[in-house]
Amino acid sequence: MAVIDFRSDTVAMPSPEMRQAMVTSPLGDDVFGDDPTTNRLMEVAADRMGKEAATFVPSGTMGNLIGIAVNAHRGEELIADSDSHAFYYETAGAAAVCGVQIRPVPTEAGVMSPQQIVDAVRPRDDPHQPISAAVTFENTHNRHGGIVWPLEDLRTASDAARAQGLRVHLDGARIFNAAVALGVPAAEIAACADTVTFCLSKGLACPVGSIFCGSRKDIEEAKRWRKRLGGGMRQVGVLAAAGLIALDRMVDRLAEDHANARTLAEGLAELPGVRCDLRRVQTNLVYFDLDTMPAQQFTDECTRRGLLSASTGSRQMRFVTHYGIEAGDVQSALQICEEVLTA
Ligand SMILES: Cc1ncc(COP(=O)(O)O)c(C=O)c1O
Repeated sequence: MAVIDFRSDTVAMPSPEMRQAMVTSPLGDDVFGDDPTTNRLMEVAADRMGKEAATFVPSGTMGNLIGIAVNAHRGEELIADSDSHAFYYETAGAAAVCGVQIRPVPTEAGVMSPQQIVDAVRPRDDPHQPISAAVTFENTHNRHGGIVWPLEDLRTASDAARAQGLRVHLDGARIFNAAVALGVPAAEIAACADTVTFCLSKGLACPVGSIFCGSRKDIEEAKRWRKRLGGGMRQVGVLAAAGLIALDRMVDRLAEDHANARTLAEGLAELPGVRCDLRRVQTNLVYFDLDTMPAQQFTDECTRRGLLSASTGSRQMRFVTHYGIEAGDVQSALQICEEVLTA
């Protein structure tokens, strides 16, 4: 049985070209700064983000953790939206590892207004309260449906944060999805932040890896944290080789994933017992609610028919399109969903 895997874009397999580059690229010890393929990828990545420097990290979670550690000290506070990946899905790493408290701010759609930022900043002259050190934004925003921050909103939020003396970290795990959806270079989005993490291992289809970018000074500090966390890798050029192909060949094609997600969402919205807010389907994530069936039952029934998916609540589902999913798979998936919901 052919399997259609909508669980995440992290399941995307590396392209044949990536596998070839992984075999043939020159290697060295990256902790010594000796790996030519990684060094090249860091130059390209920093350039794409408009930052001075970059460092390879094993995961987006480690990139965000380093972002917190570099931008806030022990006992300080990080402002983050209450549905952000950093607050929701990173095992309280900010508190557990960095000694940083997250101040969660509920938002309508993952987009924090300038006023919300100002309101979340603690008064500096009150010795009872922690120091507000930084804010993190997420773009695209996972739990809010893969929505893209309108660039103007991101700029004004970033300006408000900086005017309050906050450092700005961007969880840009899917920044290239945002850039493609907006039709702007990723650097324009990244300009709204001091430090940025983006993932190679999601829509860009690499097997492993994320990149943390910032000023030279930030990256010096980030490398110390990376070592502390056990994330310093040696001949990591085997992974960086795939990253170089990804930045060259896999960015523009994200538009295909977005088109597939839109077709999927429109088809789902027509099915009985499905509610899908099409306004939120802006990139490659499709969240929808089920009125007539628990999400677990729906997932199980779909899995039996070769469609893998993830429930994100008792009645909520998420489908993710990615490299390897073709337009025909979307139609097959819709047929499976219809069969399950009307059986
Ligand atoms: C928005 C966002 N940030 C960070 C991460 C963490 O990435 P990783 O799974 O590589 O740790 C994810 C993973 O799905 C994500 O969606």
